[in-house]
Amino acid sequence: MPRRPSRSAHRSRPVRHAVVAGAILSLALPAAATADQRRGIEGEELSGPAISADATASGGAVALLRVSRRARVLPTPLVAAPAVRLRVGGCRGRLRIGTTTRSMRTVRLRAGWQVVSAPADPGAPIAGVRLARPAGTAGCRHLRLDRIDVDVPPIPLAASVLSGPMRTDARYRKAYLDTFDGLTPENALKMNAARPTPDGYAFEDADELVDDSTAERRPVRGHTLVFDRQLPSWLVNPLLPWTRDTLLGVLRDHVTENVARYRGRVDRWDVVNEAVGIDGRQKTTFWSQGIGTDYIDWAFRFAHAADPTTRLVYNDAGIERPGAHQDGVFRLLSALLARGVPVEGVGLQGHIDPSAPPTAAELDATITRFADLGLRVEITEADVPLGGPATPERIAAQTETYRRLATACWRHVACDRMTVWGVADTASWMGVKASATLLDAAYRPKPALEATRRALAGER
Ligand code: G3I
Repeated sequence: MPRRPSRSAHRSRPVRHAVVAGAILSLALPAAATADQRRGIEGEELSGPAISADATASGGAVALLRVSRRARVLPTPLVAAPAVRLRVGGCRGRLRIGTTTRSMRTVRLRAGWQVVSAPADPGAPIAGVRLARPAGTAGCRHLRLDRIDVDVPPIPLAASVLSGPMRTDARYRKAYLDTFDGLTPENALKMNAARPTPDGYAFEDADELVDDSTAERRPVRGHTLVFDRQLPSWLVNPLLPWTRDTLLGVLRDHVTENVARYRGRVDRWDVVNEAVGIDGRQKTTFWSQGIGTDYIDWAFRFAHAADPTTRLVYNDAGIERPGAHQDGVFRLLSALLARGVPVEGVGLQGHIDPSAPPTAAELDATITRFADLGLRVEITEADVPLGGPATPERIAAQTETYRRLATACWRHVACDRMTVWGVADTASWMGVKASATLLDAAYRPKPALEATRRALAGER
């Protein structure tokens, strides 16, 4: 696969306001504290959306304030160049700040507010901020860090990819390479394609996509291990009826074979897809009838056993806004987590009805709701049909809806990838007339592409 210049090299990195004004870490240092007495700075956990901070005594007269990412809301990798900027107020003394111990530097604090930048150490994780005991003062009675800005790369924009045109259609392939950062095999990993016979797997198509992408360091989502559609006929019409145990064996083998094969190359999997109905009840499916409703638990457990490092996702359509369907998914995921099932993410498919797109507030509420369960969130299959002939109004509405999805993802660190369902209108499952993707039938970018890119970079 030919290499292309990295888009990110041409983009200026945005500053993501990790802790917005109002989300304030308030640190109180006892005025008369000695090194011995010091129990450390007591910090409140930030309520800001992105970064938590904790404060611990590090011995001597120095306390360490570690800027850390809460594991459960780990965003795209934070980049420490030009590093952390702290706005510090109400404190005199010295501040040691840096991304690594080696790069720590001392800043003398004056009274009032000032912005302090850590020295750049590109690529290094943010190590910490040392707050030195103020020299020659009674003490730093109160120190407030009201903002921590961290550079974050744009959220990757991926697309679902069809093996056929990727192999044979140079324009399709080029459009994918020029436009997107990663892929989801659209059909190649569905069970009818990947396991056409009871004992035979057919990974050629998926292998090509995965190998191409990983060679280019583009991430790949696996889609999908357990689904009630696109099942092979040997499975749905068996020679001998399945028993619970034999079908569970099929499920185990299928999940294990797929996940183990792509270990280290597929960074997240839709383990179970569309298992909840619009009424919020778990659907009756081939799998639930043959195994029981706990087939979902088993699928996640098998996947985790095969690769504990890949992210395991539950993926569904029509749950971008609060309602019965979303409530049902929320109940399902809460119950799975309560049972210790290793589900780690939820995919909001994002097939949007143009006549009723979710509002920004609804998207925010949705992502917050799932992120508060400790789950990562992704937009996994976005497409927005025009809903009629291409008028300026419809194009503007489509652009705005894409932008809204991307903005919602940007605003929440729990959301770290957006995938569009189809490289271009020519390859959309909705048909070319729906004009639902980001590239038109001639592979020209639509206004929605630029809007999406900008929103995923935190820009308007
Ligand atoms: O493989 C056969 C081929 O042999 C045959 O000649 C041809 C004739 O129509 O059909 C081919 O199968 C089609 C398959 O895509 C591969 O191209 C099926 O008919 C067609 O129904 C199937 O559609 C896919 C659909 O899932 C089926 O469930 C779409 O491409 C795919 O975009 C769509 O994706 C789903 C996600 O997996 C889950 N979320 C919803 C999303 C949209 O429906």
